[in-house]
Amino acid sequence: MQTYSSVRLRLLGWVARRFGGKTGPVSFDGSLSMLPDSSLFPLFRDGLDPVPEVGKLREQSPVSRLPIPLGIRVWLATGYEPVRAVLGSTDGFSNDFGRFAAQIGLTAAAEPGGLGMTDPPMHTRLRRLVTPEFTMRRLARLQPRIETIVSDRLDAMARIDGPVDLLQEFALPVPALTICELLGVPYADRALVQEFSAARFDLGGGAYAPLDAINESKAYLRGLVADQRRNPGDGLIGALIRDHGDELGDQELAALADGVLTGGLETSASMLALGALVLMTQPELAEPLRSGEPADALVEELLRYLTVVQVAFPRFAVHDLEVAGVPIKAGDIIMCSLSGADRDGVLGPGMDRIDVGRPTGRSHLAFGHGLHRCVGAELARMELRTAYPALVRRFPAMRPAVDPADLPMRRASIVFGLDALPVTLEPLTP
Ligand code: HEM
Repeated sequence: MQTYSSVRLRLLGWVARRFGGKTGPVSFDGSLSMLPDSSLFPLFRDGLDPVPEVGKLREQSPVSRLPIPLGIRVWLATGYEPVRAVLGSTDGFSNDFGRFAAQIGLTAAAEPGGLGMTDPPMHTRLRRLVTPEFTMRRLARLQPRIETIVSDRLDAMARIDGPVDLLQEFALPVPALTICELLGVPYADRALVQEFSAARFDLGGGAYAPLDAINESKAYLRGLVADQRRNPGDGLIGALIRDHGDELGDQELAALADGVLTGGLETSASMLALGALVLMTQPELAEPLRSGEPADALVEELLRYLTVVQVAFPRFAVHDLEVAGVPIKAGDIIMCSLSGADRDGVLGPGMDRIDVGRPTGRSHLAFGHGLHRCVGAELARMELRTAYPALVRRFPAMRPAVDPADLPMRRASIVFGLDALPVTLEPLTP
């Protein structure tokens, strides 16, 4: 998911200032909690499930007003059909960050760059640049590298005495190192990139530590772009410089690279950690992986069930229109609850549980839909299909080191996830 962290952090700062009158450090949860729960509930979970309010709303009014106290009109779509319709609309809605910024008082300096908050023709241009690197043929060259990254991390975990934090030791480094491979980050710098990546998620260093890590990683990527301008490498950055170096400035290139890093890191890490938790708490799902069955169907079902990107980027109505019969005015913002849509009964019965054998019907919306559908979907699938089986085969007795009910789940985060996942790798000794 592209640039969510940076957008989220900026929004949090803004929300905190607006509601709390603060200019000093704010905590993630502290600042978001300044918005009333009545407008944040689409980001809450009950265990791994969206809170019941989301399901009730989907039944009663799948497009409804969110009570946002900012003098702006915000709608929430929770049904599969309306969410798909909004994301698939090519002329009714805009992703343009400029409109959003103006409405809530952000300046153009807050522009995150990258793909997620741009419209055609800019979006078409940027997306065409990165797409060739995400074709199955180009991605296939990463498969053996992903296998090595995964098995190295498993070896590193096996060397740790006592409980292991699966998030820091496995779920984060696997996507971080995979993206290094994709972008063409030199081997000598990978430990550094892994450090930034871990620090983005480590709230122990104070509220600003993740922001610092994001800024450091952006500065690093700017330096990398400048280096590769002189000597283009094998990865995405080198390919962009070779093929489009004249059309793209360093800033634009660094923003694209940062979008890929941010988009692919938090999302895949959350899927790896939460998926591992599901496999530990529902061991019958892990068994077929141990006996060599392909992980494809399980991965799709986990993507749907967990839908870690809880809401899509905000969409802005370009003109007056209707969604599911509800009139939306030009300029209104519509938030699409992907986690709500992926539990909708129109997809089939029993969507609140994992059923690997369910008939493959309409596709889930965990990667979005339409123009902005995740560019990294196939890469993410490769990582998950490689990592889950390797993990459950290597550590068949792995289990949470604390009661799963006590695990630190993120409370109101656009990308749902865990802040840590302590696990025990060895079987219980009698
Ligand atoms: C399981 C992992 C992932 C999930 C669940 C996920 C989810 C999503 C979703 C829902 C969107 C669309 C948002 C919207 O329409 O508002 C999106 C867009 C995007 N994702 Fe992912 N993503 C994942 C992995 C990745 C990876 C591995 C990369 C790159 C290496 C990536 C890069 C992007 C980019 C660049 C966009 C913006 C595309 C555009 O606006 O055209 N994502 N992702």
